[in-house]
Amino acid sequence: MIEFPKNFLWGAATSAYQVEGNNFNSDWWPWEKKTGLTESGDACRSYELFREDYDIAKALGHNVHRLSVEWARIEPEEGIFSEKEIQHYKDVILALKERGIQPVVTLHHFTNPIWFFNIGGWENPKAAEYFRRFSEKIVSALKNDVHFWVTINEPMVYLYFAYLSGNWPPQKKSLLAANRALGNIIEAHVYSYRVINKIYKDNNLEKPLISIAHNMQAFVACRDNLKDKAAAFIRDKLFNRDIIKTLISRRSLDYIGLNYYSRSLVEVKRWGIMNFLGDVCESGHKSLKKNDMGWDIYPQGIYGLLTELKVFKLPIFILENGICAVDDNLKWEFIKEHLEYIHKAIGEGANVLGYIYWSLLDNFEWDKGFWPRFGLVEVDYNTYQRRVRESGKKFAEVCKTNRL
Ligand code: BGC
Repeated sequence: MIEFPKNFLWGAATSAYQVEGNNFNSDWWPWEKKTGLTESGDACRSYELFREDYDIAKALGHNVHRLSVEWARIEPEEGIFSEKEIQHYKDVILALKERGIQPVVTLHHFTNPIWFFNIGGWENPKAAEYFRRFSEKIVSALKNDVHFWVTINEPMVYLYFAYLSGNWPPQKKSLLAANRALGNIIEAHVYSYRVINKIYKDNNLEKPLISIAHNMQAFVACRDNLKDKAAAFIRDKLFNRDIIKTLISRRSLDYIGLNYYSRSLVEVKRWGIMNFLGDVCESGHKSLKKNDMGWDIYPQGIYGLLTELKVFKLPIFILENGICAVDDNLKWEFIKEHLEYIHKAIGEGANVLGYIYWSLLDNFEWDKGFWPRFGLVEVDYNTYQRRVRESGKKFAEVCKTNRL
């Protein structure tokens, strides 16, 4: 049996667009109609059913819950804020508080208002200012009940799918556009960080803790040769470490929000920049168990990353870790093994504040639709009934006892 530090935070995450339903003012909505690939529709109907969801989280012993607010609901037209929707999110936060669950609130989780999209989205030179204004509005409304803020979810993943691979809106494939957007996203985070702190200070509230949710992969060299090892090192630097360094140098990171799912097995086929940045091993000779979307299950990766992150001397909060699997035994095995490695890293000095599983519920998995099942809780998309899985119950024991 292993025991976690006192006051460890335990919970699960959701994001607005993935669970609420009918976010028709967000850029994903027309993208769904245009591509016909997926349709979020009613999603999990959590816009109405959030109290029921939080009853479940409470029964499962969660003391923290990560959620996001939908910018497009709050500011459906440029500069026009909806008091009704702001009140909605106040009700959401209150519902968590009433159940003794601490909220961790994300301001941007992959989706943008359509008006923002139409003026160039994250490429617009004024993007950071728009995001600052939105942050100011919603943070002022929620400040009394929120201590942990996440400005932007997974900037690098978002940039990759929206501006490099061309999958997500605005479906660009341009390094130049990606770079412009990255610059503006960093600026937006810094502006938002500053305005959040100012609001708390002006209101004599305890300083909140603010970060991004940063997706890190375990880049593992396939072969014991210089080429693969150098490429793994470079990818770790570019994808994992650089943005953390940048935000620390801008004095805008109070903790490191870590999202971890999988490894990437680096095998450079030939000398060349793109090969160095992108080649992965495809032969399957080092194959591991996989989740339903084919991602390797590699629990030791989280240990490696937590160990590596110690140099930054900031607390680390695991904001996402999870698996989509219809095999519920595999889901529990995944959680258990990751928790064991997290515990080992803590024992060796990693300062980890808590663990948030992705996701509380099965939900809308972006361009994949509804089939990947990440939830501790199964959602029946015909009846919208929720049913706690065995893995969810086992995880609940950990949350309640602080032990595994
Ligand atoms: C994202 C979630 C997504 C999950 C599983 C994370 O990268 O933050 O929105 O559902 O991974 O793919």
